[in-house]
Amino acid sequence: MAGYLNTARPGPDAGGSVFSLGDDQAYRRWRDAKLGTYPRSPDQLMVDVSALSAPTPAELQAVLAACRRANMCLYRSRQHLGDAGETRRALADFARHIGLTHFEDHRSAEADGIVALEVAAEGGRLGYIPYTNRPIGWHTDGYYSYEGPERMIRSMVLHCVRGASTGGENGILDHEIAYIRLRDENPEFIAALMHPQAMIIPANEEPDRRLRAENPGPVFALDPETGRLTMRYTARKRNIRWRADATTQAAVRALERLLREDPLIFRVKLDAGEGLICDNVLHDRTGFETSPGSERGRLLYRIRSYDRIRGRDLAPQPA
Ligand SMILES: [Fe+2]
Repeated sequence: MAGYLNTARPGPDAGGSVFSLGDDQAYRRWRDAKLGTYPRSPDQLMVDVSALSAPTPAELQAVLAACRRANMCLYRSRQHLGDAGETRRALADFARHIGLTHFEDHRSAEADGIVALEVAAEGGRLGYIPYTNRPIGWHTDGYYSYEGPERMIRSMVLHCVRGASTGGENGILDHEIAYIRLRDENPEFIAALMHPQAMIIPANEEPDRRLRAENPGPVFALDPETGRLTMRYTARKRNIRWRADATTQAAVRALERLLREDPLIFRVKLDAGEGLICDNVLHDRTGFETSPGSERGRLLYRIRSYDRIRGRDLAPQPA
């Protein structure tokens, strides 16, 4: 894409043969480099951004550097944004600065492509878990509507306008770390999870009564444009069918286990003005409460994009 540096993303040798089971040397080199520089706490992924609508080149470089290391960045903006409209505009501008220009066409999105995640008491969002205060299990976004590796939800921004008084924490795990754990345990797990029928979401009637067609696809797939790894997953037990062979079943159990105990799972609670930018990494959410008497509950804005995070060419333009 003109104006963007592909070299700003991804990290060294993170595409192509690294993820080919036939090239163990390339994989080991990449794996060792990744684990050797991997952040040990979410604080190492936090970037202060002065103005979301106009991040400085240094702030953008810090965001991209965090994403290169861990496919995610946490940010904190102290800028006071007046109303909802101003916040949404600033957030969309921020997303565009890191290469996210094609936002998902989601049924709950406003015209600007941004979805407000808050407890819904009525309306079209009723019945969907994101709009309740209940916990949400591990998943990547868009797993239920896979349309092939060329049109996946590749990135996501979650921006907190108001935090919950109790709970509402997010667990986050870089999907490349999940890949590394599984491949190190048994490379056949990777082959099984790359099968095009590995994970099937059966046809289902949605809470809004629309019928959704069966949606099969792999768990791990390579982005045809960049060679980078993408992941499609949900830990839910209902309305999901895993391929019945023993290797897939064992791979799913191994994945469930690592999502319970991996030391590189970060747990964060986003406060007002803070957010997460990521290349659609694995995440979950704990349930939450708003203290009695306070009128307004937790509100997060979410952007999903078909684009990967990448850096705009920051070199000064000739006058
Ligand atoms: Fe999500």
